[in-house]
Amino acid sequence: MVSIDNNELRIAENSEALYKAIADDFMQRANACIAEKGIFDVALSGGNTPKKLYSLLTTEPYRSGIAWDKIRFFFGDERYLPADDPDSNYFMAHKYLFIHVPIPMQHVYMIPTHYQNPSRAAKDYADTIRELLGIGSDAIPQFDLLYLGLGTNAHTASLMPGTDLVKSYVTSPDGEDKSQITAAAWIEELNMDRITLTPPAINNSACIAFLVEGTEKAHPVWQIIEGPHDPVNCPAQLVKGEHGKLLWFLDKDSAADLKGLK
Ligand code: 6PG
Repeated sequence: MVSIDNNELRIAENSEALYKAIADDFMQRANACIAEKGIFDVALSGGNTPKKLYSLLTTEPYRSGIAWDKIRFFFGDERYLPADDPDSNYFMAHKYLFIHVPIPMQHVYMIPTHYQNPSRAAKDYADTIRELLGIGSDAIPQFDLLYLGLGTNAHTASLMPGTDLVKSYVTSPDGEDKSQITAAAWIEELNMDRITLTPPAINNSACIAFLVEGTEKAHPVWQIIEGPHDPVNCPAQLVKGEHGKLLWFLDKDSAADLKGLK
């Protein structure tokens, strides 16, 4: 394990070792949290990187080593698509994880995507989070674990470069509305609406873990960890982590551009 500033880097030799490290951490963190407070609230990331993790978690020792009925699953962001669309982050988690392990489906809290107005969906999801975590209507939730991916354009969750949403959190890091924990945003380059947790909701998590693999991610990893401060164009720089270090699960390829490792 290597640290660069507030970042705790766990760099695996290869893909197999990367996902084993993440799965081992998940099992240890989940069981410790469940032993302490009886529940484990985790926010999942989307895209392709988590697929291998989710598949690994359905095998031993994880399948029988984790108290799946004590975990509540949330999502860090969602594409504004029907839940049965193959590009939905919910659909991906359902396909690779939920249907293979004994998770009570009432413990899976998908981001709604059926409203005509995506902003209504964002509000509905915020209400659901607060109700389940038992916090007030202005409070910021604290997930026990929040996974994030990293795009080749240095986005994370659905905080996309150059968007008004990201610019607003650069101008006001706590948010123009300090109680806003979710947001809807039209992403021109993707021609779709996205729903995302806001930086304050992300940053209040007890543990934030970036899951990043592959050569194509080496540059954005460098941008976020060692590059110039430029959160408008590198929105993952908005992820600070306010409760301890930022955890990075990387393979050697995605860590290749980090000078601090030389
Ligand atoms: C999404 C994700 C997004 C993702 C990154 C990395 O909905 O696409 O939430 O933030 O984590 O784009 O995606 P890959 O893992 O597919 O490279």
